[in-house]
This record gives sequence, structure tokens and C-alpha cells, in this order.
Amino acid sequence: MTVEYRKSIDPMAPYVPGRPIEDVQREFDLERVVKLASNENPLGCSPKAREAVIDSLDQSNYYPDGNCTRLRERLSETLGVKQGEIVFGAGADEVLAMIGKVFINPGDECVTASVTFSQYEASAVSMGGVMVFAPMKNNAYDLDAIYERITEKTKIIFLANPNNPTGTMFTAAEQESFLAKIPSRVLIVIDEAYAEFADDPSYPETLPLLKKYKNIILIKTFSKIYGLASLRVGYGIADEEIIQLFEKIRPPFNVTIQGQAAALAALDDQDFVRESFENNRAGMEYFCRELDAVGLPYIPSQANFVTVDVKRDSREVFHELMKRGYIVRTGYVFGLDISWIRVTIGTLEQMRGFVGTLKEVLSEQ
Ligand SMILES: Cc1ncc(COP(=O)(O)O)c(C=O)c1O
Repeated sequence: MTVEYRKSIDPMAPYVPGRPIEDVQREFDLERVVKLASNENPLGCSPKAREAVIDSLDQSNYYPDGNCTRLRERLSETLGVKQGEIVFGAGADEVLAMIGKVFINPGDECVTASVTFSQYEASAVSMGGVMVFAPMKNNAYDLDAIYERITEKTKIIFLANPNNPTGTMFTAAEQESFLAKIPSRVLIVIDEAYAEFADDPSYPETLPLLKKYKNIILIKTFSKIYGLASLRVGYGIADEEIIQLFEKIRPPFNVTIQGQAAALAALDDQDFVRESFENNRAGMEYFCRELDAVGLPYIPSQANFVTVDVKRDSREVFHELMKRGYIVRTGYVFGLDISWIRVTIGTLEQMRGFVGTLKEVLSEQ
């Protein structure tokens, strides 16, 4: 190719997603495949959201409301924030990508943890930013190590709470003392994609802090507990001045009519959210008990996935599990050691099947 492209994308690699169910079914000639790979909701989505999507299909010939007006009004009421303090994205992913576009000049530094969600690096590096990785402490974020890496070039700090892929969290007190130290010229991205799964009483309530710290952007998504990953709806909450900047670069119709309708209906079905939470806790408790029983180390998780040390080459375990109809993720793609896998919590029935299959695979390796 002779067209010059932007060299800042040279160090980037394409995102490697979890294998789609149909792919695996075809490759291994399997009737039933259980995907425990992408931290999706195993219960599906709220029946109300499903109905709203179907009803909205007749409007597919129209562009969506680019302002997401009804969803904006609803979230503004529910969360107690101004309508102008919300920016919507095609998933939290798009909000993260917009953060890079709005804030990063070539050479700007961003700081995050060494084992975390890959799209923080993508957001920074795609715009010529430099990602600085702080080491983990006991497989969790080390906020002191992150703080120590702030320089006069630092533009953004990316924090996932709970973190993906470790499922670990930092507490309200840890977050507060960290925020109090950060210079106001540094943007702090707090990604709470998995917040609704956390049940530790010390998990932070971040929203009220946005009044005090004007340099926070809080990221939320409908992909996880609301079960709407395919419809791509996420949002950021920040000071109006920040949100206005996003509106300059946001693609005009980035959230579909179906996504907006589903998200709105999903907010009205908190019973489904509770059911999803309970299902996750039950599946998590069962899985961790079984891991304890067979002596496999794992990282206690506040999210809807657990990272497990299978004490073997995770690529082989991944492959053997897949042949038997279970898709998980190898941990090394996230920066973990080669013997770790990440397993999304499914239904109790799926977890029982998975544990049986995992035991079988490990006994053969
Ligand atoms: C920490 C974290 N943030 C954001 C996302 C992206 O979510 P969305 O589907 O809303 O783009 C994910 C997806 O796995 C995630 O793990």
C-alpha cells in the first residue's frame, strides 16, 4: 500500500475477542456450546428489553435519535445528574475510544495497571499517546504504583473497578485517598462496567464524587448485568464542560434505535438485574468452592468472571475445553501468566457442566 497511514497505530494489534459460539460449533461439529468467554449475561436480557427491540424494528429505516433523548432523560433522573453530563457510546468501548480522541496529543502519557482492559491502551496509543503500566500488587491494582508514575506529561489515568481480567476491586477509602492526590489537570477514567456485580460493602459509590472532582469520567455499560452486549450501549458521566467536547467528535447516530429502546426498557426491569446478580453470586460461590476442593488457585472476584490458575499451559486447556463445548479465555492475552484462564460465570447448570469438563481435561493433561 502506498498511502501513508498514521504511524502511531504501528504498535497496536487487533483486538482478539472470545470465539463466537457458531464458529466453535462448526469447527468441532458440536451441537451445544457454552460461551464463558466474554463476561456476557448467561440469563440473556430482560424480556421487557427484548420486546422493546422487537417493537422498534419497524423504525429501522430511520436514523436513531442521535441525542438518545429518552434514555438521557431517564438516566439523568435515575442517577441525579444533569442531562448534559452524559455522553452515549456504542458500548463503553466507543466512549473509551472517544476519550483518546478528545484528550490525547502525541507524546501524552496515560497510566494504568499492567493487567487490565486492553481498550485503555488502544484509546491512548491510537492517538499517539504513550501508555505507562504500573505493576499489580497481589493481582490487583496498586494505586500507589499508579500514582508514582504520574509525570508532568500524564494526561489520563485509566482505572477499572472491578478490574478485568482479575475481578479485583479497590475500596471507597482507597479510591478517595487516591483521587485526593491527583492533580486536577489529569483526567481520571473510572470504568465501572462490572459495578453491579460487586457485593463487597466497601465498593465505592463513585457518582457523588463527580461533584467534588471535575476531572473524573465515570464509565458505565448496558452490556454486562443488563445483558445487552450485542446492542452496544454504554455511557460516560462527567462535568458538562468535558461532555461538550465529546459531542464535537461523537459519531452523530452512534447508538441504534434498538439499543436505545432496549436500554430504556432494561432500566425498568430491576427484577432482572437482581436475578442476574443472584445468579452470578450462586455460580461464583459454587465455582470457587469446586476450585478450592481441587486445589486450583483463583483470584477472588467482584465481577462476573473468575481467573483461575490451571497449572498447565492454558492454551492447551483452552483448546481441550473448546473441543468439549466450553469457550473460555486464556489469561496471557490479558497479560497474565500462561497458566491462567478467565472463566465467565454462567448459570449454575452451565457451571456444573463446566466444572465436570474442566476436571476431565485437567486429569488428562
Ligand atoms: C472493563 C471493561 N470496560 C469496558 C468494556 C466494554 O464494554 P462495552 O460492551 O460496553 O463496550 C468491557 C468489556 O468487556 C470491560 O471489560
